[in-house]
Amino acid sequence: MHSQQIRSTFLDFFTARGHELVRSSPLVPDDPTLLLANAGMNQFKPYYLGESPAPYPRAVSVQKCARTSDIENVGRTARHGTFFEMLGNFSFGDYFKQETIAYAYELVTRDFGLDPERLWATVYLDDDESIRCWEKVGIPTSRIQRLGKEDNFWSMGVPGPCGPNSELYYDRGPAFGRDGGPAVNDERYMEIWNLVFMQFGRGEGEGKTDYPILGELPMKGIDTGMGLERLALLLQDVENVCQTDLLAPTLHTVQELAGRGYPGSGAEKVSFQVVTEHARAMSFLIADGVLPGNEGRGYVLRRLMRRAVRHGRLLGIDGPVLPAVTGSVIANLGTAWPELAEQADLIEQITRAEEESFGRTLRQGAKLLDAAVRRAKEENSGTLSGETAFELHDTFGFPVELTLESAHDAGLAVDEDRFKALLAAQQQRAKSGGKAKTAAALRRQEAYRELVARHGRTEFLGYERTTAEGTVLAVLDEGSPVAAASAGQQIELILDATPFYAERGGQVGDTGELRTADGTVLEITDTRNGLPGFHVHTARVVEGEIRSGQTVEAAVDAVRRSSVARSHSATHVLHAVVREVLGKHAVQHGSLVDDGRLRFDFVHFSALSQSQLEEIEARVNQRVLADPEVRVWHADRAEAERAGALALFGEKYEDTVRIVDIGDFSRELCGGTHVAHGAQVGAVRLAGDVSVGANLRRIEAWTGFEALASADRERQLLRELAGLLGSRPEDAVGALRKRLELLARAQGEVERMRGAELTALAAGLAEKADAVPGGLLVATRVEGVTAQELRQLASTAAVRIASGAGIVVLGTAHEGKAMLASAVGARLRERGIEAREVLSEAAAVIGGGAGGKGALASAGGRHADRLGDALSLARAAAATVLGRSTR
Ligand code: ALA
Repeated sequence: MHSQQIRSTFLDFFTARGHELVRSSPLVPDDPTLLLANAGMNQFKPYYLGESPAPYPRAVSVQKCARTSDIENVGRTARHGTFFEMLGNFSFGDYFKQETIAYAYELVTRDFGLDPERLWATVYLDDDESIRCWEKVGIPTSRIQRLGKEDNFWSMGVPGPCGPNSELYYDRGPAFGRDGGPAVNDERYMEIWNLVFMQFGRGEGEGKTDYPILGELPMKGIDTGMGLERLALLLQDVENVCQTDLLAPTLHTVQELAGRGYPGSGAEKVSFQVVTEHARAMSFLIADGVLPGNEGRGYVLRRLMRRAVRHGRLLGIDGPVLPAVTGSVIANLGTAWPELAEQADLIEQITRAEEESFGRTLRQGAKLLDAAVRRAKEENSGTLSGETAFELHDTFGFPVELTLESAHDAGLAVDEDRFKALLAAQQQRAKSGGKAKTAAALRRQEAYRELVARHGRTEFLGYERTTAEGTVLAVLDEGSPVAAASAGQQIELILDATPFYAERGGQVGDTGELRTADGTVLEITDTRNGLPGFHVHTARVVEGEIRSGQTVEAAVDAVRRSSVARSHSATHVLHAVVREVLGKHAVQHGSLVDDGRLRFDFVHFSALSQSQLEEIEARVNQRVLADPEVRVWHADRAEAERAGALALFGEKYEDTVRIVDIGDFSRELCGGTHVAHGAQVGAVRLAGDVSVGANLRRIEAWTGFEALASADRERQLLRELAGLLGSRPEDAVGALRKRLELLARAQGEVERMRGAELTALAAGLAEKADAVPGGLLVATRVEGVTAQELRQLASTAAVRIASGAGIVVLGTAHEGKAMLASAVGARLRERGIEAREVLSEAAAVIGGGAGGKGALASAGGRHADRLGDALSLARAAAATVLGRSTR
């Protein structure tokens, strides 16, 4: 049975039984507690928690999931993957244990045709009810086992819904090991389906078992998950998930690249499987907007890519491996998952770039490793330090297995304990930072959750108007509900209905004012979504007192709102134009839509040239000023996609989506507020582009009045400049150029004159030289010269002294500092006299050291007042040197 048939059999079975077909949410979840989607139930979490009402009592989905907690197992066992498709059916307050167990049994034995005699089940310790249900459908007690919390109690691994579960297993037969059921052998007895009885809320805690149970859920239900890969493995009767039709074409590509077949066992087999499995995971992650990076999701992706490259190299594939293997994933799965085909270019470019940069890292790390190995050998230590292994891992992203292997080849051991200790310490640091943040976010959300459960979401009136009446549902002070708040207090305010847009999709939240009939005034400084669709107004009470239950007149700052709308429409136009000019890969990757300005991040691999920026700006303005109509319409998600609407990375959309068209060139899913006609955007001026991370660029721009204001600022600058130059603004450049030429000529003249002056001064100094035994000597103070001039003077004077037999020492004070220079004539140089030896003691006196060598030396120090003493010392030193050299 082909995987596509498995998916449709599953979906058909449950839709025929009243389940709403819900599409997979993106791998990047809309949930601050979760790094990556890891189960079908993630997107339904708010329903179980009662945060929002379930729009349907039963649902079915095929969910994209990523789990990297057991990444080390990937490739080593038959069934582990970092990415998998989870087939699941869900009930929200509808059916429970009996029905879901009956469904599961019927589906696997009848529709999927698995042998009923080989099915086993496990239940949570005292869950006798589940045992009875399994017996009733046909699994005898002898094939039902009880397991503890570790195996049969399920939660997302973060605070949220959880519950006991029951698992269905398939016996693959004696070829896969000894008997005794899943409790003793989970390779032979393979888990295929997990049925979770969602019943409780879990609090915070580490691990699979160490967390408090917070009580019963507001909405109990069923959450199940069956791995498509495992089912395919059984139904296609292959040994390994890489051999199922989901991955076989990719495995084949790896074989072609490696130039050899897939072995039945051993280290090579692991490498084949790692490259194959990771290729699929990375393709899906990139298609959902994850880019390789050094933390969070980005790091998960980077690890997968580096591990795959490394195993590719182990298979002897030297050239790029990732673009080819992800290409085969796209070809194979791009129909079932169109996002892969849509992002094919991006996947190609990202994998190529990452592999290239990791190739450099591999080489750099290899050098460090070689040096460390050499050192260890020289020192005869026989061990590579844990610090070195850690540095390789931490700084160079060098997989530790590689370090171990290379060290081993060189006959060295690695201090693994030390390495592990360093790694654990680093992870601990990372964790405690992240945890504090989540804890704070969770506390705030608790208050919002309760309110949503009680009152539902906020009715948003702001698409049609900017003023409206609403009722105060709650006044929150530091997250706690209070009855009232008075003048001066900073609070959060919840209304049943509001015209205030809550920050989302990059668009900033509205600001404005609330008033009550009895004269209370509040200033709204921000509005955001406390929970999806739940508007939280940040407010300051200006006058009077605000109480829960009061009616208020809410008025958005409409001038600011229009300015934000201009920026939002401009962002859509910019998005379309950037993709026209730079290519389809340049998709939006975050934006800020603000009052008169915007920030637009997009995928691109190099800096934009001036001419690209100019072209983008010109096209955006042409588009806008052609005054296209801006049309907002609603459709179901599939219809919108067929119509070619661009969905943004990482956004979760409802089933009915809002679509914004601008003319015939831009169509995006968008919940923001826009202008009605393009020309209302006014002008758009780009401020430039910068890099904001690997493969990401950012354009900033001004819109509407701010675009005019930025032009005004430049005009004002030009005017000032022209004023200083005494020209008209349009002639300023010519006038400035003339000035600069004049200045250059004048500078040349000054230098020439100064040169003549210094030459004359040097001649005067040379004449004043005293005869001492062994030569001639000048040591004196001069005024009004720079350090550079002082050296020049000394050197010129020394040349001028008869037949090069003189030493010149000069000193000056400049800006509170003392400076000395000494020069030695050519004849004396022949006698081995160094300019520096004359200065060494004198330099110490002014608080510095002498530098320079041969014929010229100098020194500087902060004791300007000791210049006289220094010169006397230098004179004495020079005399001594001269006297000595005659002997
Ligand atoms: N949520 C359950 C799991 O992921 C079904 O195993």
